[in-house]
Amino acid sequence: MKRHPSLHPLSHDHHHGLVLGRRLQKSTPDDSAETRLDLARQVLQMWQTELQRHFRDEEEHLLPALARKGDEHWPLILDTLQQHVDLRRRVDDVLRELEAGLAPDAAALAALGLTLQQHIRYEEDTVFPALEAALGELELARLAPRLRRE
Ligand SMILES: [Fe+2]
Ligand SMILES: [Fe+2]
Repeated sequence: MKRHPSLHPLSHDHHHGLVLGRRLQKSTPDDSAETRLDLARQVLQMWQTELQRHFRDEEEHLLPALARKGDEHWPLILDTLQQHVDLRRRVDDVLRELEAGLAPDAAALAALGLTLQQHIRYEEDTVFPALEAALGELELARLAPRLRRE
């Protein structure tokens, strides 16, 4: 299904997230501390420039719009929120290490990468199609100014 134009900014972020996720997922215990620090810096950069706002946009705009469309959507909403909290926790773990000047564990980086990719695929394959089906053209168009990037 072709993505509604209102959701394009989020799908654009998803593309970046998948690239970072794949990079993180390749982390192994053989990686040097400098390689792991570099990945942690990339997590910080993407968190500050895209991911943090992206999560908020979904939580503040998309999920309430879906909730308005009926109780049958709650399982999707709750799954999405649970995945956001899990990802926020994983990102925070990596950033705490970085703040302390320590290289994060390869396993933690790889798990963050896998979880991020799985979350993005879940939204693209399940949540966004449900949203597009439930909202209709007018309400989807109303979301556009809230999701637009300056
Ligand atoms: Fe999300
Ligand atoms: Fe997303």
